[in-house]
Amino acid sequence: MQDNIFSIRLKQSMKNKNLKQVELLRLVEEKGIKIGKSHISQYVSGKTTPRDNILTVLSDILEVDAEWLKGKDKSVKNKTEIVDDVLSSPKYERQNSLEETSMKEFRKSAKLDNVLYDVRGPVVEEAARMEEAGTHVLKLNIGNPAPFGFRAPDEVIYDMKSQLTECEGYSQSKGLFSARKAIMQYMQNKNIPNVTIEDIYTGNGVSELINLSMLALLDTGDEVLIPSPDYPLWTACVTLAGGKPVHYVCDEAAEWNPDIDDIKKKITNRTKAIVIINPNNPTGALYPRDVLQQIVEIAREHQLIIFSDEIYDRLIFNEEEHVSIASLAPDLFCVTFSGLSKSHMVAGYRVGWMVLSGNKRIARDYIEGLNMLSNMRLCSNVPAQSIVQTSLGGYQSVKNYINPGGRVYEQCEYIYKALNDIPGISAVKPKAGFYIFPKLDVKKFNITDDEKFTFDLLREKKILLISGKGFNWKQPDHFRIVYLPRIEVLEEAVEKMADFFSYYRQ
Ligand SMILES: Cc1ncc(COP(=O)(O)O)c(C=O)c1O
Repeated sequence: MQDNIFSIRLKQSMKNKNLKQVELLRLVEEKGIKIGKSHISQYVSGKTTPRDNILTVLSDILEVDAEWLKGKDKSVKNKTEIVDDVLSSPKYERQNSLEETSMKEFRKSAKLDNVLYDVRGPVVEEAARMEEAGTHVLKLNIGNPAPFGFRAPDEVIYDMKSQLTECEGYSQSKGLFSARKAIMQYMQNKNIPNVTIEDIYTGNGVSELINLSMLALLDTGDEVLIPSPDYPLWTACVTLAGGKPVHYVCDEAAEWNPDIDDIKKKITNRTKAIVIINPNNPTGALYPRDVLQQIVEIAREHQLIIFSDEIYDRLIFNEEEHVSIASLAPDLFCVTFSGLSKSHMVAGYRVGWMVLSGNKRIARDYIEGLNMLSNMRLCSNVPAQSIVQTSLGGYQSVKNYINPGGRVYEQCEYIYKALNDIPGISAVKPKAGFYIFPKLDVKKFNITDDEKFTFDLLREKKILLISGKGFNWKQPDHFRIVYLPRIEVLEEAVEKMADFFSYYRQ
């Protein structure tokens, strides 16, 4: 098979039928063939060619001749011949194909080959396509407070406006002194040891710092323990940095706490670090002190760095205590992450931080790497840094949302009960954050592919969710709901879901 011709003809035929990769994948699956989205993208990029049975199905869907699609009708020796060949293809649009064939194609870096981030992935693309076609989609896929009517505190907006003219230049690469001082005091209140101003880095959200911290640390093949389910950026950034994400299980039967035995089993001589997400996205778990203590002991025994993502630490219901794992590990090297996206409902401002603590002596070289990468991006968004001091001091208005009577609290109570009332669905009650991670009775619904379930729900009920797979959960039996919408909206969603589950069988 002529690889180049095949991918050119495949792309052309998809274009003629106005099909995107996810749609082609769906149509292939509907024909009873099981392939992943990576297969389709590899066919399109010309990296691989399909087996004959898949090729027949593709030609059927695309309404082109299988032999033609294969490229067998002409041997290709040079570019001119490829152009000629495409020019004679069915439903050929002269202008488009000329552009495609006479120009060099730019492919994404192979570094991205195994990087997945489905929170904005194919199901979300399908939802965007439906919206473009005029369909209203209820998006329960992303923890973005503002579109659901959550407002930043007035004081924060006022203070940013007042300081705007002072934020025109770059700041120090780690961030403004005032912001870092406020973060330092916040860390002191959480009993995190040995933190100076120099140990604090502000970032364009925690996201930037997760990426930066992994890039600075990992050599090819270095292993990092990451929870499953996870916030998938962690897995994506470890992979992008050349490391190997190794997932340890969080146990639903134990309120989604990390399974300590599983962590122990997954440690090898390549393991460099362990990541915890506490409070957790997507499960809503809040780790008790004794569980954290056991993780510290493992890290101590195996000399691991502890990375703790605590972006939801100010969003805990019922005044339960949040323990920063770094406070339990003064002798280890820890990196703690948090930010204002969620606690101050300013996800769009992009402000987060990362704090080094404990035994920094053992990480001198790594810290040099962090400083290099921090310097290379010059600094993070300065207007956003200017509100850190205001945000972390004084009354925390987020409490109005998370205490009884507050929106987030009541929405959580509602969704937890309503989901558990649907036959075949069960969920552990979240203790913090915006998310719930319910379980599907896969036998009842005959579900073997959770991503297909989310596609089906989207198409039939116009509700957008992310399947467990999007959070690196291995079995096809979970999905995540963001419960940020108002109760009336959640009620409507639950009603539609209850109806869907009354008949859905995969
Ligand atoms: C656990 C977790 N960490 C990090 C982030 C990224 O946050 P930021 O907006 O600060 O980049 C999110 C966003 O949803 C998250 O849930």
